[in-house]
Amino acid sequence: MSKHRVSRRQFLSYTLTGVGGFMAAGMLMPMVRFAIDPVLKAKTGGDYIATPLKVADITTEPTRVDYTYEQVDAWYKSDVTETAWVYKDEQDNIVALSPVCKHLGCTVAFATDEAHPDQFFCPCHNGRYTKDGTNVKGTPPMAPLDVYPFQEKDGYLYLGKAEPRKEA
Ligand code: FES
Repeated sequence: MSKHRVSRRQFLSYTLTGVGGFMAAGMLMPMVRFAIDPVLKAKTGGDYIATPLKVADITTEPTRVDYTYEQVDAWYKSDVTETAWVYKDEQDNIVALSPVCKHLGCTVAFATDEAHPDQFFCPCHNGRYTKDGTNVKGTPPMAPLDVYPFQEKDGYLYLGKAEPRKEA
């Protein structure tokens, strides 16, 4: 028989320490992950996401472009679909506008108001924006539509995160 017998007190002490440590790790891991998550996200913040739109197909008529990407939030993955209104201006520059109304966040669309077929229209409170995204005075929105930074890769349009328009 071994001389190193474990007493009942020692056995309980080891067992409780092990179980306690396991439980503490289970509680601390999500907290640590939550704390460092913003740091991890910052590395991918500048990502551009592929759209199905070929740059060569962009015309002067604003076109709705929907694109989907996988969003990972801690352990939860989901598909997110975003929308942009894309066209080329008179100088042949690409313009990509957010559809989120700057009044209360409804979704705007181009040429859906018969009285103003050359503008973006928000049906929630009759907000309007000119084709370049400028809010029309006298309607509820107080700021222009956000713009997407963009890149061209392999002939396709890639969009970044929409941001407020910088005034020239
Ligand atoms: S939310 Fe667009 S006009 Fe109010």
